[in-house]
Amino acid sequence: MRILSEPLSIEYLTIAIAQLPETLRGLKLVHLTDFHYDGLLLSEKLLAEAIEACNQVKPDLVVLTGDFVTSNPKPIRKLAQWLSRLQSRSGIYAVLGNHDLHFSRSKAEISAALTNVGIKVLWNQIVYPVGAGLALVGLPDFWSSEFNPAPVMEQLEDTVPRIVLSHNPDSAEPLQQWRVDLQLSGHTHGGQVVIPGVGSVPSWLHASREKIPKFLWPWIPFLEAKWPRVVKHWQWSQGLHQVGSNHLYVNRGLGTFPPGRWHCPPEVTVITLEPGVPFHQKSFTQMQDDTHQKPLLS
Ligand SMILES: [Fe+2]
Repeated sequence: MRILSEPLSIEYLTIAIAQLPETLRGLKLVHLTDFHYDGLLLSEKLLAEAIEACNQVKPDLVVLTGDFVTSNPKPIRKLAQWLSRLQSRSGIYAVLGNHDLHFSRSKAEISAALTNVGIKVLWNQIVYPVGAGLALVGLPDFWSSEFNPAPVMEQLEDTVPRIVLSHNPDSAEPLQQWRVDLQLSGHTHGGQVVIPGVGSVPSWLHASREKIPKFLWPWIPFLEAKWPRVVKHWQWSQGLHQVGSNHLYVNRGLGTFPPGRWHCPPEVTVITLEPGVPFHQKSFTQMQDDTHQKPLLS
C-alpha cells in the first residue's frame, strides 16, 4: 500500500462565517473522508495516523463524509472499531457516500456499525451539536434517489449559519439555491495524480477535452463515457471553492485507488471557524490585512 499512497498531510484552514455567534469563535472541526476500508485501498498505519492526528487537535466536532468501504460492507465492523478511538467534544457525525450504498444491505449495515460506536449517521437530517447558533446538515449521497435537499434546507431559519455534509462535491451545484456557509465533501480523492503547476490529471484532461479529437475520448482515462458521471466538476477536485454565494471544501480523502497518488497526499482537514465576512465578500484590502485567512486552494 505504501507505494500507492503518500504520507498523510494535515491541512489547516480558518473559515469566516456570517452570523456565527461570538461564543463559537475558534470552534474546531476535523474532517475525514473516503476511507475505502477494504484491506487494499487504505493501510491500517495510515488510518491510525489519521485518527491520532485528529485526536491531537482536540476537536470540538468530527465529521466523516462517506465512502467508508469500497463495495462489500462487511469491513465496516472493523473500521467502526478503529473510528471508536476518535475523540470529539461535541460528537462525531457522518454521511454516506456512493460506495456505502453499493448493495441494498449496505446502508443499513454501515449505519448500524457506526451508530454502535456512537457515530451519528445523518440522512436528510439537521442537528445542532454545539447549540442553536450553528446547524449541521447531513445529506444522502448525491446519486441516491433520496438526495432531495429542499425539504431539509427549507426547515432552516435564514439567519442560522449552517455546515452541510455531502459526499459528492457536484452536489454544490444544486445546493446554490440555499445558503450553505460551508459544504464539506470528498469523493474525488483530489484527482489522485497532480502535476505541479498544472493541477490534477483528471481536471486538466477534462478542461482540455475540446482540443482532443472526439474519436480518441473512449480510450483516454477520465474522458470515457462513465467519467462525467463519476465527477462532473473536476475543477472542485480538492481545496476551498466559492460556488455562487456558497463555500465548498473538498478533502482529498484517505483511501487510494490504483494507480496511486502523486503530489496528492491523503488528508486530514482541521477547520477553525470564526464569525466574520465570508472570504468572497471581502475587499482586496481586507484580504491583504487578513493574514490568518488561508487563500482559496485549488
Ligand atoms: Fe465517492
